[in-house]
Amino acid sequence: MTALPPGTVIGILGGGQLGRMLAAAASQLGFDVHVFCPEADAPAARVAMKHWQADYTDDAALSGFARACSVVTLEFENIPVSTVEAIAATGTPLHPGAKSLAVSQDRADEKAFLNGIGISTADYRVIAAEADIAPALAALGGKGVLKTRRDGYDGKGQAWLKGEADIAAGWESVGRAPSVLEAAIAFDREISVIVARSSTGETASWAPPRNVHDNGILAQSVVPSGLDRAIEIEARRQAVALVDALGHVGVLALEFFVMADGSLIANEFAPRVHNSGHWTPEACQTGQFEQHIRAIAGWKLGDTHRLFDAEMINLIGEAGHVDPAGLAANETLTLYGKREARAGRKMGHITRRLDPRKD
Ligand SMILES: Nc1ncnc2c1ncn2[C@@H]1O[C@H](COP(=O)(O)OP(=O)(O)O)[C@@H](O)[C@H]1O
Ligand SMILES: [Mg+2]
Repeated sequence: MTALPPGTVIGILGGGQLGRMLAAAASQLGFDVHVFCPEADAPAARVAMKHWQADYTDDAALSGFARACSVVTLEFENIPVSTVEAIAATGTPLHPGAKSLAVSQDRADEKAFLNGIGISTADYRVIAAEADIAPALAALGGKGVLKTRRDGYDGKGQAWLKGEADIAAGWESVGRAPSVLEAAIAFDREISVIVARSSTGETASWAPPRNVHDNGILAQSVVPSGLDRAIEIEARRQAVALVDALGHVGVLALEFFVMADGSLIANEFAPRVHNSGHWTPEACQTGQFEQHIRAIAGWKLGDTHRLFDAEMINLIGEAGHVDPAGLAANETLTLYGKREARAGRKMGHITRRLDPRKD
């Protein structure tokens, strides 16, 4: 693919905050943006040149949207296969492609794929029916996390099982959906690697942040992670191996559990820009949103060196009502333009730039 010139149209599937920040980055590079999502008044649609408001199963609308764009990308991975096919039928490239989407949409396929390319995950069992759970739980040491194979996010679709007594309620709480049972991992900390691969096969990753979750929702990301450099290098190597194996185009985030002995256990990956990369625009030469646009447009990737230590704080629910007058000089506020603050809803984030530092 030749590099797309500024002025061409980039299409984004999905209207949330990730789409909004992608649209802003695309605009900065001189592209026009069309957003496709069913919701009226969506955060991304409000900063785009055009909003195609239709359902993801509306093939005629998808086809019109894709024909209007030089490349289509997405801000969430759970788009139906039929949507991918409707876009493919127009000949407009979709980045990331079907492989990255299919693998990341299903936790069982995802783990099998990761293991298949030599990336360790938590031990797991596939659960098709309630009767599968007790033997799986016993095999995994009597404790585990039941997760729906599809559609989970922010800790939704998950139930901790601390013993056989939790099975019935856990199975009910995941909606009796096809699931995986994962071994409980007593990790020392969590990190993620944000990596980009361009349509020319070039790759670049950022220094991995340490991530702190609260109730399954990311609360904070901090760089540096505090880990030994060798562990960070290995995590980045695995993330590059993953995007290469997928033939992925765009940004991808690979989440890890880090054990006390420094060993890495991959948790999951998202084939898109990621909340744990929200500090990159302020702390690095090139941020994840700009990089994603560069990657899908066939541009040379930007430099990912980190220029500052930084921490990113998510503003969740009522915390989204920030008084801008209260911000410190080293804090950058990003708000997503959501009309209503609800419990557990990501409303914005603050990035705090700390010491200058290059790595
Ligand atoms: N097997 C596990 N052992 C220990 N903690 C886990 C396990 N799986 C998930 N968690 C915790 O829950 C968080 C969210 O789980 P994750 O699988 O990443 O789902 P989501 O798609 O909601 O991000 C993780 O970041 C981690 O803190
Ligand atoms: Mg996660």
